[in-house]
Amino acid sequence: MWIALLGTPILLAALALLLKHINKTYFILSLTKRVRTEDGSPLESKVALMPGKTRFGNNLDILNFTPASVFNFVRESTAKAKGQNYLWYFLYAPMYNVVRAEEAEEIFQSTKLITKNVVYELIRPFLGDGLLISTDHKWHSRRKALTPAFHFNVLQSFLGIFKEECKKFLNVLEKNLDAELELNQVIPPFTLNNICETALGVKLDDMSEGNEYRKAIHAIEEVLIQRVCNPLMYYNWYFFLYGDYRKHVQKLRIVHDFSSRIIERKRQQFRQKQLGEVDEFGRKQRYAMLDTLLAAEAEGQIDHQGICDEVNTFMFEGYDTTSTCLIFTLLMLALHEDVQKKCYEEVESLPEDSDDVSVFQFNELVYLECVIKESLRMFPSVPFIGRQCVEETVVNGMVMPKDTQISIHIYDIMRDPRHFPKPNQFQPERFLPENTVNRHPFAFVPFSAGQRNCIGQKFAILEMKVLLAAVVRNFRLLPATQLEDLTFENGIVLRTQQNIKVKLTKRVT
Ligand code: HEM
Repeated sequence: MWIALLGTPILLAALALLLKHINKTYFILSLTKRVRTEDGSPLESKVALMPGKTRFGNNLDILNFTPASVFNFVRESTAKAKGQNYLWYFLYAPMYNVVRAEEAEEIFQSTKLITKNVVYELIRPFLGDGLLISTDHKWHSRRKALTPAFHFNVLQSFLGIFKEECKKFLNVLEKNLDAELELNQVIPPFTLNNICETALGVKLDDMSEGNEYRKAIHAIEEVLIQRVCNPLMYYNWYFFLYGDYRKHVQKLRIVHDFSSRIIERKRQQFRQKQLGEVDEFGRKQRYAMLDTLLAAEAEGQIDHQGICDEVNTFMFEGYDTTSTCLIFTLLMLALHEDVQKKCYEEVESLPEDSDDVSVFQFNELVYLECVIKESLRMFPSVPFIGRQCVEETVVNGMVMPKDTQISIHIYDIMRDPRHFPKPNQFQPERFLPENTVNRHPFAFVPFSAGQRNCIGQKFAILEMKVLLAAVVRNFRLLPATQLEDLTFENGIVLRTQQNIKVKLTKRVT
């Protein structure tokens, strides 16, 4: 009895001391996984340490998050770090947050840091081992096999598809003259139809399952966002018990069955056409995405599941990213009459009949490209990307333990006032060739950089130019949404809680 009474204060004092120490070091559950500097200097000299709100590292800081609070939490953390990169400590590992181009460069250029982090595991049921998620040998061989599908000649053959879809889009606009138009409703069908026809070779509008497929993709994204915002949902058992697991499985089946059926149909056609031969000039033929994959299958480089994963990856990566960028670019054009006027003057130089405009002529729309880039800088479709250390790795002079998660905040890198003065102002002229000469090469990275950069960036720019040139040429855009009205959200892509609206009038001059 006496021993117990005496022992209690000693125990409490020991516990208090331990908690004090833990509080000082900001983490409790990742004691074995500390980041240290390579040269033994204090860690604070290389990175800002972010104290957690509780003694449990940063684990409990992000419970019960919504897409909007995730966005704000990251922005507030970046502001607190005062221009430095910063560290969080989570349950099993540290997370290194990179907000500076200078340090991001080393990660982008690294041949070791190509494995994606834990967030991407949430997308794995949808995309399997497709290009976005796979790593090491599988990623290298697939990237090599798929690169020809984005060759200039192939892009040129997609131009007709983009123009055809654009005409349908202009018809929709004609029907909405002088009314407020919700861009979030009308843009996504345009980009989904484009990617479906270029990746799979089928017209979504002509297919009875088209609508069901569209809705299923949307539902999958909703579930993904639910999981991204709650770290507990990263555990499959928790997601199974408390998340929209059943809805997820059901929608995944719809999407996977759809692509699988089309792949099977295309495989039959492929065999009949005997693709893989040389063209009339004796050159080896280049094919669009699915054909490229079927040719690789014929050479034993990929199996049916692999083809499905890659096709689903293209559909996913090529759809929402371009929609988001188009929506923000149209909003910025509506909000900046002077910029819109300059775009109009530039596109006026194109042949009157849009059917006659070539890829070269679209490439020459330099100012329009500056406008797209400035929109991507301020509103990057992919606001952050992730990597992880698969073994102990030295990164930016720090020794990162195995499993350290790395988050590269593209959004913050591109709003760094050292590289983009007055970063919250929309100034497309920043991207005129004469104004980019001295800029850090990794300060503008909306498509990521290095060997894991976006394979579809030229595709995306061409697709967006086709639509933007046609809209600016035919209509005047007026604002119906102000930037201050918007609440931003971190989903898989950058989103806003409110739909973005513009007004259109027919352009007379
Ligand atoms: C505005 C449009 C787009 C933006 C901003 C964008 C951005 C990005 C970014 C930031 C990454 C790196 C992702 C990461 O490291 O996690 C990426 C990768 C990728 N993107 Fe895009 N993307 C766009 C359009 C497209 C299109 C149209 C396609 C396909 C047609 C596409 C296909 C891919 C693929 C397959 C990857 C993975 C590449 C690899 O890891 O080898 N993207 N994209």
